[in-house]
Amino acid sequence: MQYFATSTLPSSQQTDCVTVAVFEQGELSPSAALVNEQSNGYVSKIIDRGDISGSAGETLLLQDVTGLESPRLLLVGCGKKDETTENQFNTAIGAMVKVLDSSGADDATSYLSEIKVKSRTNEWKVRQTVITAESNLYKYNQTKPSVKATIQPINKITFFSADSSIQSASDSGLAIANGMSLARELGDLPGNVCTPTYLADQAVELGKRYNSVTTTILEESDMAELGMHSLLSVSRGSREPAKLITMNYQGAGDDRPVVLVGKGLTFDAGGISLKPSQGMDEMKYDMCGSAGVFGTISAIAELNLPINVIGVVPSSENMPDGDANKPGDIVTSMAGKTIEILNTDAEGRLILCDALTYSERFNPEIVIDIATLTGAIIVALGRQATGVFANDQSLADDLLKAGNDSHDRVWQLPLWDEYQPQLDSNFADIANIGGKEAGSVTAACFLSRFTEKFTWAHLDIAGTAWNSGGKAKGATGRPVPLLVQYLLNRIEDKK
Ligand code: BES
Ligand code: MN
Ligand code: ZN
Repeated sequence: MQYFATSTLPSSQQTDCVTVAVFEQGELSPSAALVNEQSNGYVSKIIDRGDISGSAGETLLLQDVTGLESPRLLLVGCGKKDETTENQFNTAIGAMVKVLDSSGADDATSYLSEIKVKSRTNEWKVRQTVITAESNLYKYNQTKPSVKATIQPINKITFFSADSSIQSASDSGLAIANGMSLARELGDLPGNVCTPTYLADQAVELGKRYNSVTTTILEESDMAELGMHSLLSVSRGSREPAKLITMNYQGAGDDRPVVLVGKGLTFDAGGISLKPSQGMDEMKYDMCGSAGVFGTISAIAELNLPINVIGVVPSSENMPDGDANKPGDIVTSMAGKTIEILNTDAEGRLILCDALTYSERFNPEIVIDIATLTGAIIVALGRQATGVFANDQSLADDLLKAGNDSHDRVWQLPLWDEYQPQLDSNFADIANIGGKEAGSVTAACFLSRFTEKFTWAHLDIAGTAWNSGGKAKGATGRPVPLLVQYLLNRIEDKK
């Protein structure tokens, strides 16, 4: 879809559909009031009749309204006037786009950016509109070709704005949305298609698409030479060869890079500590950390951001097999620390620890790992917030802020040394599980043992990367908005 800006008032705008906001208690947005005036009170009449109450996400499509150049007028409910929340704004935009896409209109002009959303700027509303619109139009079709639409889909949305600077907000929104769609597609693909080899191929493609991105792939033999026996122990139980993918985006000469490490477990059966069969299909999403890295790299490459970012993706399956890890096995990580594998289902940390050690060679300014690491984070935070842990409070603060800015929010959990003894092992330097208490914290504690040499944060996205079960099952594209926002803020702060 294409996005543009206009400063033309709704009555004279040449478009297939004008969309304006209406609020609870019959209140009108400035554009709705204008249209109401031009149509001799038609909008108020319909509201008085009770056909739309103004609550967020309600819509009413009207045809051939007097006084409008446009053949269609879409009323969109946005909640209480002057009190629309971010969530209500997104709900309204999502509803608007769905109606537009099935209305027969080829293009539309949205006057929803004029409404007040807390303290959000015009740029924020425009960017959010693009992201939410694209998210709502995303259709997975690689293994399920969508039926050909019989109605003209929406192709172009124009925003009303007095200043033209919003074009750049719209462009960054589109790049973020494209990154999210890439992440969702990789996530939604089944485990028999999206294997470590497939991810490696996608990374090579990304390197071909952008001159600024250089991709390298390490094979199992390369990893063995580096001593990555923790990572390799996970992949030994699978017939799919593991890959260690590096995507190097260079946008700022020789600045120290931000390294993003994404868990790329293309299917997590649990290994010998086999998972229950109920819902196990969703463990194809166990590579969503890596999908977030792919999406972020593609967004910043599309935007040509002046920053250096390296994506590191350890990718493997976790399967039960005669050669798989067994509970009690001890492996030696690349860092030289021995690990007692008490539960083969705690495999994410086993592949991440070696990827984190590997990251040291890039002399990173910051390392952030992104992983669907623990079911416990869903118990703690539900599906609203990503969990963040950090060995540096200012990095945690920056991520909390980026989460607020992008409305792709994170919540911090503790990484106190009081939790560390839960990982003590009688037979190795460290155990790979910390018992039933504070499972997300002890998982982060495990990673912290391999990140002492740099400034690091860990994002546990097990609750936020996909919608579980039922009709809504599917990847969300999170945390691409968060990560791109973090990088954008970093660039701003350095100016
Ligand atoms: N990939 C899972 C975490 C997960 C579980 C994400 C459910 C989303 C939904 C991870 O590899 C795992 O199995 N973690 C275990 C750790 C436990 C064995 C200490 C878990 O959370 O149960
Ligand atoms: Mn697991
Ligand atoms: Zn896993």
